[in-house]
Amino acid sequence: VTYVRNAWYVAAWAHELRDELPLGVRVLDEPIVIWRNGRGDLAAFEDYCLHRLARLSLGRCEGERLRCMYHGWLYDSTGHVVEIPGQARVPGGARLRTYPVTERHSWLWVWMGDHSCADEKLIPPVVGFDRAEPESVYAHGQLDYAAEARLVNDNLLDLSHVSFLHAASFRMSDVWAREPSKITPLERGLRSERWIRGEGTLGELGTSDLVDTYFCYEMYVPGVLMMTVHTYPVGTAQALKSQPPDLSRPPGQFTTQAITPVTSKTARYFYTMGRRRRGSETTYDMTVTDQAFAEDKMMIEAQQQNIDSAPARRFIPTAADQASVLFKRLVETMARAEGSVEASTDAQCTPVHP
Ligand code: FES
Ligand SMILES: [Fe+2]
Repeated sequence: VTYVRNAWYVAAWAHELRDELPLGVRVLDEPIVIWRNGRGDLAAFEDYCLHRLARLSLGRCEGERLRCMYHGWLYDSTGHVVEIPGQARVPGGARLRTYPVTERHSWLWVWMGDHSCADEKLIPPVVGFDRAEPESVYAHGQLDYAAEARLVNDNLLDLSHVSFLHAASFRMSDVWAREPSKITPLERGLRSERWIRGEGTLGELGTSDLVDTYFCYEMYVPGVLMMTVHTYPVGTAQALKSQPPDLSRPPGQFTTQAITPVTSKTARYFYTMGRRRRGSETTYDMTVTDQAFAEDKMMIEAQQQNIDSAPARRFIPTAADQASVLFKRLVETMARAEGSVEASTDAQCTPVHP
């Protein structure tokens, strides 16, 4: 499986990192420890103590330093060993591998590639709690998948599955499988948009009112999705001759999701859901969405088992796979560019911002 390294990966929720406690995560099968030093700055190291490879995430923050709690080696914020208990001399050049890390929109993002390319402007403008508005209600969570991240990305890039896999939860007709999306390539991702006419509101049961809904999402490498949902009275899509509505109006619903490859066969799925507040609601009701997420997880994990049993077999793409095929090509192109120019220039940095 191909992964882009020059990208910001969502490693954890910012609120998972508590002062004084280092946090162990795994991204692209690399164990990483994230911690906050006494000045409030974030640091991310490989999660291997240089002494005997113990987990630094089992260590202790000491002001601006991090101590391995096996035999006490002490590291500064740049990953240099500054103290070895019982030994006056510290081996020169003893330094941990570090990762650029930043907190943005409720997530901790780790850059897995060339440090000189780690531009924070490449972080997509996802919706986090820092942008919570009083007129909306929110929910958030995460799921661990026993499947590779690519299969979860494919799921989000091909929503024709809504008609079938989510027949019991979202209860849409087969319109999702019939209506083509308009796909627009972006520099580091793609946009998919379409009208769904005369259906109920996605994710809400009990509202029998039919509406025309305009769905628009952007998916960025390595796997960050931002979707907005605008609903209108039935007939609006036709009145607009299927052109997009005024998208500057705040959406009725929105979601931000990130899929992080943990290992080559596991992924962590982070999500935030939001909707305009109705009446005195205080939170986004996840009943239907949780059911749908469970349906996705059940299907994708079983799909992974099938793929593992028959590794030589190939997929047969359909019209609905346009977005996932395009995204896969983009990932391959970006990954190839990183590999081919690694030794010569820094041209592999893609300076274009989402
Ligand atoms: S393994 Fe970390 S100090 Fe020994
Ligand atoms: Fe789904």
